[in-house]
Amino acid sequence: MAKEKMLKSVVASENDSIKKVMQIIDHSGFRVAYVVDDKNKLIGVVSDSEIRKAIIRGNDINKSVREIVNADPIVVRAKEVNNNATAKKKMKQLLEKMPDSRYILLLDDKDRPHKLLPIVIGQKSGSIRQSQNGGKRVLIVGGAGYLGSILSRKLLSNGFKVKVLDVLMYGREPIEEMLAHDAFELVEGDMRNISTLVKAIERVDQVVNLAAIVGDPACTLKPADTIETNFLANRALAEACKYNQINRFVYASTCSVYGMMEGDEKLTEESSLNPVSLYARSKVQAEEGILSLEDENFSPTILRMSTLYGYSPRMRFDLVVNTMTKNAVIDKKIFVHGGGKQWRPLLNVEDAAEAYMRVLQEPLKNVKGQTFNVGSEEQNYQILDIAKAVKESVPNAKLIVEGEEKDLRNYFVSFSKIEKTLEFKAVKQLKDSIFRIKKAIEDNRFSNINDPKYYNVEIG
Ligand SMILES: NC(=O)c1ccc[n+]([C@@H]2O[C@H](COP(=O)([O-])OP(=O)(O)OC[C@H]3O[C@@H](n4cnc5c(N)ncnc54)[C@H](O)[C@@H]3O)[C@@H](O)[C@H]2O)c1
Repeated sequence: MAKEKMLKSVVASENDSIKKVMQIIDHSGFRVAYVVDDKNKLIGVVSDSEIRKAIIRGNDINKSVREIVNADPIVVRAKEVNNNATAKKKMKQLLEKMPDSRYILLLDDKDRPHKLLPIVIGQKSGSIRQSQNGGKRVLIVGGAGYLGSILSRKLLSNGFKVKVLDVLMYGREPIEEMLAHDAFELVEGDMRNISTLVKAIERVDQVVNLAAIVGDPACTLKPADTIETNFLANRALAEACKYNQINRFVYASTCSVYGMMEGDEKLTEESSLNPVSLYARSKVQAEEGILSLEDENFSPTILRMSTLYGYSPRMRFDLVVNTMTKNAVIDKKIFVHGGGKQWRPLLNVEDAAEAYMRVLQEPLKNVKGQTFNVGSEEQNYQILDIAKAVKESVPNAKLIVEGEEKDLRNYFVSFSKIEKTLEFKAVKQLKDSIFRIKKAIEDNRFSNINDPKYYNVEIG
C-alpha cells in the first residue's frame, strides 16, 4: 500500500462511532486507529482490544469513539524525530505495550498525523509471513478434533496466537504438546454454555468454528446434542462474536449439504441443497443462521469441505479413506457397499487446514459473506475407486463389493471458486496419505485401534 494511503487507512474522526472505527481497524489490518479532531489534530488512539473491552463494560457501539479514546498515545512528535534516542525509546515503549506493532505514528509540528515510521528495533528477523500473522489471536472452537488439532499446529507455526475452546470429547492428547507453547491457550468447556463461550472469545480477533457433532451416524444417535451444538450454540457463538465486534468468523460446513445429486451437473456454491441427514440439515441451518448476521462489522465465511482423510493427532478411523485403509491393513478386507458408484469429493486434512489459514489471511472483502466449496476437482472420487486406491497400497487385502449402500450421499463438486479467489489447490495425494496411515498402523502408533477415541460413533 502506498505510504500516504496507508496513513489515511488508520485515521478516524472523533465524530466516528465506535462501530465505524472498528471497521477502519478491520480493513486497515492495523491493530489501532488514530483519532483526530476537525482540524486533523491527533486526540488519541484506540485499539481493537480496547474497543472490545469497552463493549464488555457496556458501552454503546453507536456512540462517538471520543468516549473511549486513549488520550495519551505513544507517538513520535515532530521535534523528536531527529533525536534518534527519543524516537527509539518511543518505539521500545510501543513494542512493550503492543509487541506486534510494526509502525509508529509521526506527527507534524501541528500534531497532525504525518507519517507511519517503520519500527526498526526489537523486531526479530522472522519471515514476512510470520510478521503479517504476528499477534493475530484466533479462537478455534473444536480445536482439539481431527481437523482442529492440525489447524491449531499450523496456525501456531505461522505466527498466530491460538486459543482453543473444546469439550475434549476425544481426550486432551491431540493438543497435549501445544499446552506448553506461549502462544497457545486452552479453554476446556462446552460451547453450549454462554458464559464459557463469552470467556472463550475474550481477547480474540478471529474465530473459526469446527465444533460439532460430526457425521451422519453420530448425529442420528444424539439428535438433541446435534441440534444444540451444530445449530443453536453455533448461532449463539456467531451472535456473541458480532456483539463483541469480532469481524472474521469462519464456519466449517460440509459438501454433505448437497446430499443426493440430481442430474450430472457439477455442484457449485449456487446449486440447490438437498441434505439427506440430520447432520447435513443442521449444517444448512447453521450456514443460514450465520450468514443472516452479516453486516459491515461481521464478515462470516462458510467453508463446505469435502470428506477429509489422512493422518491427524486426533485420528478418526470412521472416515471413508481412513476406515478402508484400517480394514485393509488389520482385517485384510476392503468393503464397498452397493456397487460404489456414488461420487464423493475428498480432501486431505492438512490441505483443509491450509484453506482455513488462507481465509484468515485473505483481505476481508474477498471472503466476507462468501461460501466456498473446499477440495479439488481431481479428488472427486467414486467410492469403488477409493477402494481400489487402498488396494494398491495394501495388495494382500481382498476387495469385497456387496450388499446395499445405506449412505445416500452422491455429489460431484466444483472447486473453481476457491481456486480462483484464494488460489487454493490441494497438494496432498490420496495414495500418499493411504500409505502414511498404513505405515502408522503397522508401526503400532495406535495402541488399541478399536479405542472409541478414534471414532465419532462407537463401533459395533
Ligand atoms: N472430517 C470431515 O470429513 C469433515 C468434512 C466436512 C466438514 N467437517 C466439519 O469440520 C468440523 C471438524 O470436523 P472433525 O472431523 O475435526 O470432527 P471432530 O469430531 O474430530 O472434532 C470436533 C471437535 O469439536 C469438539 N466439540 C464437540 N461439541 C462441542 C461442544 N459442545 N463444545 C466444545 N467443543 C465441542 C469435540 O470435542 C471435538 O474435539 C466439523 O464441524 C465437521 O462438521 C468435517
